[in-house]
Order: sequence, then C-alpha cells, then structure tokens
Amino acid sequence: MAKERNRRWVLSHRVDEEVSEENFTWVESEIPHPKAGEFVARNLWMSFDPTQILMIARPAEGAGSAGGLPLGEAMSTIAVSEVVESRHPEFRPGDIVHGHMGWEDYSVSDGTGFTPTYRVPEGIPPRWAIGVLGLTGLVAYFGVHEIARPSPGETFLISGAAGGVGMVATQLAKLSGARVIAIAGSSAKCDWLRREAAVDAAIDYRAEDLAQRLTELCPDGVDIYFDNHGGPTLDLVLGRLRAGGRAVLCGVSALYRADPTPPGLQNYVNLILVNGRMQGLLGRDYVGRRGEAFATMLPLLRSGQLRSKEDVLVGLRNAPHGLARLLAGENVGKQLLEND
Ligand SMILES: NC(=O)c1ccc[n+]([C@@H]2O[C@H](COP(=O)([O-])OP(=O)(O)OC[C@H]3O[C@@H](n4cnc5c(N)ncnc54)[C@H](OP(=O)(O)O)[C@@H]3O)[C@@H](O)[C@H]2O)c1
Repeated sequence: MAKERNRRWVLSHRVDEEVSEENFTWVESEIPHPKAGEFVARNLWMSFDPTQILMIARPAEGAGSAGGLPLGEAMSTIAVSEVVESRHPEFRPGDIVHGHMGWEDYSVSDGTGFTPTYRVPEGIPPRWAIGVLGLTGLVAYFGVHEIARPSPGETFLISGAAGGVGMVATQLAKLSGARVIAIAGSSAKCDWLRREAAVDAAIDYRAEDLAQRLTELCPDGVDIYFDNHGGPTLDLVLGRLRAGGRAVLCGVSALYRADPTPPGLQNYVNLILVNGRMQGLLGRDYVGRRGEAFATMLPLLRSGQLRSKEDVLVGLRNAPHGLARLLAGENVGKQLLEND
C-alpha cells in the first residue's frame, strides 16, 4: 500500500553479539524525490542474506575499518520494488525492479550497487524474483550447472541445504540425476528436504554426528560438495572427496560470526590425491546471464518439479527480526519480508 511518509530502519548501534531491534532506530521522514540519473522505488519484498552481518557488525579489535554501512543510514538490502518516480533513462514508473535498496518504504537509487538493478520480467511473481530466481537462485543454478556439473548417479553433498541457496541447488542436483545428501540444522529442515525436495538422505548436523553419518551414507566418498558453511564442514568433506571430486565454494555461514575463527583447512591436500578441484563462485558475476537460469527454472517452477520454499515475515517493523532469524539458522527456505 502506498504510504504518505517514508518509514525506515536506520543503523544506530553496531552489532556486538546478536542482531536485534536495539541495533536500529525506526524513523519516519518525507518520501524522497529523485535527482537527475536516479529513481525512487517503493520496496515490496526484501531479502535477508547472511553477509548483511558484515555491514553492521563491530569489527574485531585491530581489524581496521568499521562495517560497511555508516551509522544513521537505512539498513541495506536486496529488494524487489516498484518504481514510483524516475529521472533515470532506463526505469519508468510502474517498472518492477530487483536491486539494492534499504529497510524503508521508499529508496532512491541510481541503478548501481553490489548487483546492478534490473527489471523483473513480466509474469515472474515478486517472491520468486527475489528468492528462487533472485541472487540466491542464480548462485545455486550456476554453482550446480556450471561448476559442479553433476552426472547421473554421482553423490552430491550440500550444506545449508534448506536455506535460500541450498533449497534450489539441492533440487537442481536431484533433477540432474545425482544422489543428493543434504546437511541442515534442524529436524524441520530435514523433514522438508526429504518430503518436498526428495533428497536421498538428510543429516541434521546439530543433532547427529556428521562424520559418522557421512561414513554410513557415503562409504565410497563424495563426488561433489556444494559448500554453504565453510570451516570445519568443508574441511571434513575435503578429506572424503573421491577421484575427480569437486567442492563448490558458495558461502561461509559457519564463519561470519565465528569468534575465534577456526583454524585453516587441513584436508585440502586430499585434492592432490584425488585430482580434485575446489572452485568459488560469486553470484553477482552471473546476473547478466540470469535469462539462461530463468529459461530453465521457470518451466520447472510452473510444473512443480522445482519447489520454492519461502519463510516470509510481513511488515517492515519485522525487518530486524528477519535478519536475526536468518543468522540464528531458524529460517526454513529463503528468508523474506513482504512490506506492509
Ligand atoms: N557466492 C555468492 O555469490 C553468494 C550469494 C548468496 C549467498 N551466498 C552464501 O550462500 C550461503 C547460503 O546463503 P542463503 O542466503 O541461502 O542463507 P541461508 O542458508 O538461507 O541462511 C543461513 C543459514 O546458515 C546456516 N548456518 C551455518 N552455520 C551457522 C551458524 N554457525 N550459525 C547460524 N547459522 C548457520 C543456517 O542453516 P543450517 O544450520 O541449516 O545450515 C542458516 O539457516 C551463505 O553462506 C551466503 O553467504 C553466496
């Protein structure tokens, strides 16, 4: 619903331990107007991403510069938004766009940011545009199809399997014919993975002994490891890659808040013994190729072969809570907020 004022959450205190409302201040101001080369958009849906913590956390002693977001600025987010006023040559009022905005009703943008703003193609619902077909979906798509390249029958192991990236990568690997073993942090997540994503097995790493379960489920090792955790999970699996194995480095959810940071990898030497490969990917570098991913994933979504699991909070007031949920690992599926 259009608003008469611009409601905003601005950063007021850097995060020392857990994120909460106390780190932000709720302010209301005039709705902004664009200058030449800018547009103003009403934010409809917002995404929560683990790396948001890096913008707002107090840096460790001696680590140099403070987090990326200055105090007093609206918390930064990826959003799907409707352009309401424009002095930008590429965007017109009524356009639905995907881009970098803030925890606020209305954001001013010049179309640049960590990922450039782009128009959402007609017919794509906003919740898909920001989730399964947004940056997290693109990372999953290109991580699986371009880097991991699973062959039928290969064992594909994935951590963070029930999160925004994980739920897509898990299903795409399964559709490629791989045997998929999912690692996730609760029984609710594992239930969803077994029931809806049809994985071959799911391991609740917070309740079960991960090493022991891997020995039982993958006695001959792992062909592909899609890594959303980093740290000790990555190290454990590197020691279990088999000939020609690949590790896809997507994220380090286990490390963003780790203090102290765990020691470095011990098992990477195994890559030599198995002629293995470890490769990272950065989703924003694939944004220009989103059409390829949409062309494959939209029919799968529409036919129900690919399922989008979203964990949705409603109302801008809930934005700090949404980030706290994600960072505590409570989200099942892609953590989103629908603005009110
Ligand atoms: N390379 C890129 O361009 C790119 C783009 C987007 C995202 N990513 C990365 O991909 C990964 C997944 O992102 P996402 O957006 O889909 O997030 P997500 O997986 O939906 O949410 C974060 C998850 O991290 C897991 N986690 C692992 N260790 C944790 C710990 N110590 N404390 C709390 N949670 C922990 C939790 O799930 P479990 O406990 O179930 O594992 C939590 O639900 C992240 O590392 C993210 O940074 C990379």
